[in-house]
Amino acid sequence: MEQKNDIARLLEWYMAAGVDEICGAEPGLLLHPANEQAAANSPLPAVEPASVRPAISSLAQTTVAACKNARELCEKADSLEDLKAAVEAFEGCALKFNAKSTVFGAGNPQAEVMIVGEAPGADEDRLGIPFVGRSGHLLEKMLLAIGLKREDVYITNILPWRPPGNRTPTDAEVAVCLPFLKRQIEFIKPKVILLLGGSAANALLDNGDSISRLRGHWLEYVMSDRTSVAALASFHPAYLLRNSAQKAKSWSDFLRLLKKLKEN
Ligand code: URA
Repeated sequence: MEQKNDIARLLEWYMAAGVDEICGAEPGLLLHPANEQAAANSPLPAVEPASVRPAISSLAQTTVAACKNARELCEKADSLEDLKAAVEAFEGCALKFNAKSTVFGAGNPQAEVMIVGEAPGADEDRLGIPFVGRSGHLLEKMLLAIGLKREDVYITNILPWRPPGNRTPTDAEVAVCLPFLKRQIEFIKPKVILLLGGSAANALLDNGDSISRLRGHWLEYVMSDRTSVAALASFHPAYLLRNSAQKAKSWSDFLRLLKKLKEN
């Protein structure tokens, strides 16, 4: 019993430290004396001399090249299916190499409402579908409250790959993946885009204001052909799960969305 509690406490400690993935096929205790001994005996990892580490300018060049490649792939994609295949084959974002799945948009491609979140979390990465974890369940409840089911909307994210430990995406990651999101919008042609959280709102509206300032009023997203789509920013469900006092503001955003859908 005591050992069970110790294991539970150790797992809690790992989770608090952000360790939420199992990397090895066999469970092992990193703090076990035998492992410490093995670590002490193993040579230190080689550190590349500064001269061979990629300079900031070459990382910037890599990002610029990846953005260009993403835009070219988007231009070539003639359908949502083509675009999905292009994203799955794309290797210009390093997040892909740590992720289990490429989480492309899902739902009704003829939807009037397109919902954009930040990035897949652990559940989405495991299942390859956006918003299927706790945030997704709350989102589904909020949609139901205005008469929409998950199958009525199209749901996607700025990034199709999970950032390790659910960290906030970097500007470079957003820049590289943004063409894929913009092309999805061109295929879906929604009446309304609902942007969940500051990352989605900032990326798509190219506006650095906080989500508290951006939410609650209609904004515009301008597509590459200069036509605009009504956009509404609102709090991310993950934020609402931590700050339930803000749910009232989200509810008023969802009512605003419903009103817009009823307009001709
Ligand atoms: N949070 C997001 O922003 N997107 C998901 O798909 C899941 C959680």
